[in-house]
Amino acid sequence: MIDCILVLDFGGQYCHLIARRIRELDVYSEIVSPEISAKKVAEYNKKYRVKGLILSGGPQSVYEKNAPRFDRDLLNLDLGILGLCYGHQLIAYYEGGVVEPKEKKEYGTTKVFIDKAKDTLEGLGKTEKVWMSHSDTVLKMPENYEILAHTENTPVAAYGHRRKMIYGLQWHPEVIHTEKGRKIFENFVYKICKCGGNWVMKDFVKESVRKIKGRIGSKKAVIALSGGVDSSTAAVLTAKAIGENLVAVFVDTGLMRKNEPEYIKETFSRKFDMNFRFVDAKERFLNALKGIEDPEKKRKIIGETFIRIFEEVAKEIDADFLVQGTIYPDRIESGTQYTFTIKSHHNVGGLPDVLGLEIVEPLEDLYKDEVREVAKKLGLPDEIAYRHPFPGPGLAIRVIGEVTPEAVRIVREADAIVKEEIKKAKLGKGLWQFFAVLLPIKTVGVQGDVRTYRNTIALRIVQSTDGMTANFAKIPYNVLERISTRITNEIPEINRVVYDLTHKPPGTIEWE
Ligand code: XMP
Repeated sequence: MIDCILVLDFGGQYCHLIARRIRELDVYSEIVSPEISAKKVAEYNKKYRVKGLILSGGPQSVYEKNAPRFDRDLLNLDLGILGLCYGHQLIAYYEGGVVEPKEKKEYGTTKVFIDKAKDTLEGLGKTEKVWMSHSDTVLKMPENYEILAHTENTPVAAYGHRRKMIYGLQWHPEVIHTEKGRKIFENFVYKICKCGGNWVMKDFVKESVRKIKGRIGSKKAVIALSGGVDSSTAAVLTAKAIGENLVAVFVDTGLMRKNEPEYIKETFSRKFDMNFRFVDAKERFLNALKGIEDPEKKRKIIGETFIRIFEEVAKEIDADFLVQGTIYPDRIESGTQYTFTIKSHHNVGGLPDVLGLEIVEPLEDLYKDEVREVAKKLGLPDEIAYRHPFPGPGLAIRVIGEVTPEAVRIVREADAIVKEEIKKAKLGKGLWQFFAVLLPIKTVGVQGDVRTYRNTIALRIVQSTDGMTANFAKIPYNVLERISTRITNEIPEINRVVYDLTHKPPGTIEWE
């Protein structure tokens, strides 16, 4: 069985980062509500063997009336327990230590003096650079605890229980500015919790195939394949398990990028030899969108048309299961009540309800970069494994105003030029998305000595880690110049190109 570390989410902004860091050490980790009971922890053991708990940081003070708490019984389980920042203070508070609000905040990179380089701190030097962000401070620990580190302002920067495997750190080892962060987690998961390090993607493929076979058997399944990394990986993985009993349905909405439908068809029906169903629905989508200008209406129409088409095909296939490419960040409860950020979902919703099929989600425990790793293991091309996000409604939300065949053609050509030039300049890896938006306004220009009155293309090129916030990218001028020149030279309907200088917030990444 796979060993697991649970991260109790007290609303800290680095909670996901903690789980990522643990997984980077080949140990499975999941984020759970801070109110998880000792009994519920035991239930986890049916799926994963829980070896330790990490209590995350959080924005509150332990003395606040509504501050999050945890089940004290957890401290009596035979598990490794590591409190970070708020988690560190909360354990100290529960165990009878003294926690005090301090006026002065300790923030940023801080020098910490390691008093005892043992247990989680084994292998650390006399002083270390760590990252801190706190105002409350643990001043004293009860008898059965010993102080392991201090800073100039914080007498108890790290502690450990004398007999049990309970530890606390005032700093954030998950943040890269803590130089020995990895070492600390390594000590915790391997030396303290004795995890096996058995979360590896090679085994994941084998294990998943076995599980899918067990679940679907010789019945039929269907998947909506978009060509994105999640659905593609879920499709190939499932096909590996049940062969042609999986039908992968690709709906060509007419709103895809240049050559994309052909590429997807070629990849899945030829290279992977899958039971692939190509549905040409270009006309249907364009007809449904006729005369519609409102962005939300466009989204709704596209979603509904997609569901209707998929429903028709699925009925015809007579499947029992619906495979979906849901990944871990999609399904994690949008936080506990203590998390202040809420992630909105953009995926085509409504499918499971409409179809009444049993759902299989083989990637439900994976982060995006783990999915990419699995994709590579399965032999998917880089074009798909490292594909940048592309919205479900496709080019329709990059044509501002009514979606006509002509407008889609223009924005598709402009998009292909942006893609080519970014690729040529080798800038793609550092970018979240880069695309063109067709604006409905016309402006005056002069092309070939002739006055023109034509449309404008806006370039949207952004950096982001999760799409929740983003910065416009500071692309070299010469690359922007090449893109602009090519668009105005190669697309006769365009005489002006502008660059979008808006971060998110206040702008969103897509223009609609
Ligand atoms: P926004 O525009 O909200 O976009 O800043 C954040 C990320 O989500 C993508 N996006 C969508 N994806 N269906 C999708 O599957 C949608 O309706 C949709 N709208 C936006 C967007 O491309 C960006 O990566």
